[in-house]
Amino acid sequence: MFKIGRNERCWCGSGKKYKVCHEWSDEEKLSKFATEGYPLPERELILNKEQIEGIKESSKITVKILDELQSFIKEGISTQAIDDLVYNITTDMGGICAPYDYEGFPKHCCTSVNDVVCHGIPDEYEILTEGDIINVDITTILNGYYSDASRMYTIGNISDNAKQLVEVTKQCMYAGIECIKPYMPVGEIGNVINDITDKYNYGVVRALCGHGVGIDFHIDPIVNHYRTDKKTMILVPGMVLTVEPMINEGTWDVVIDEDDGWTVSSADGSLSAQWEHTVLVTEEGCEIITK
Ligand code: MF3
Ligand code: CO
Ligand code: CO
Repeated sequence: MFKIGRNERCWCGSGKKYKVCHEWSDEEKLSKFATEGYPLPERELILNKEQIEGIKESSKITVKILDELQSFIKEGISTQAIDDLVYNITTDMGGICAPYDYEGFPKHCCTSVNDVVCHGIPDEYEILTEGDIINVDITTILNGYYSDASRMYTIGNISDNAKQLVEVTKQCMYAGIECIKPYMPVGEIGNVINDITDKYNYGVVRALCGHGVGIDFHIDPIVNHYRTDKKTMILVPGMVLTVEPMINEGTWDVVIDEDDGWTVSSADGSLSAQWEHTVLVTEEGCEIITK
């Protein structure tokens, strides 16, 4: 468990001394979980008001881009054109595209079409056509603060099964978010999502997960979207994380493109969808930051 002096300022940014602010609730609520063997977050994962404000500012860029893409994405455009738009809006608004050069990633966002699960690389020769579904994943850095969100877009008329996959995946993301409460094990998110996908016989991708975010791109906790009975990290107010289920129409298994080292596709070639929000754990429940 994290340690903080009783006379130091509380981690929550209230300006009060720890002993008259969160000491009581931390001890009372967290120590029992520690005894039961649940991992507890490191202190750095509990963000203060200033950090949360910074992430909210960063989110304005991420959300602006996702909104603009709604009318921009249509038949005949390339995924490279999406990347150009992302780069232009981000830099115009004073931000940095986090994916660019992240562990060698070559572009400014991820564009994942049809059976591509995530980490698709924008390409001038990849042209969207009627019936396609595409996820665009945006991560922005502003003044050192990261916000991470993605949405699905559809091209013209799409099949009924594609429509259902896109809608159910969105429903999974919101159900995962709405179940978030402080002092809950993060694994509960995956339980809630897997309960939904079971009804449709969809596969929940296991190889990739949501994550803590805000002061860096990928930090604790790991947010799995599939069911688990493991003792997972306890959520505490002030933590910021993503919920970003990747759901396949068929098997949950995935393959990574050997040539580019990035593109993740469903192993059976079935359609895949994903939605992502950055979320703040609050005293009451949670708040979507990228809305
Ligand atoms: N934005 C992705 C996520 O949700 C990560 C992309 S990493 C990249 O975690 F390098 F592919 F951009
Ligand atoms: Co993410
Ligand atoms: Co993302």
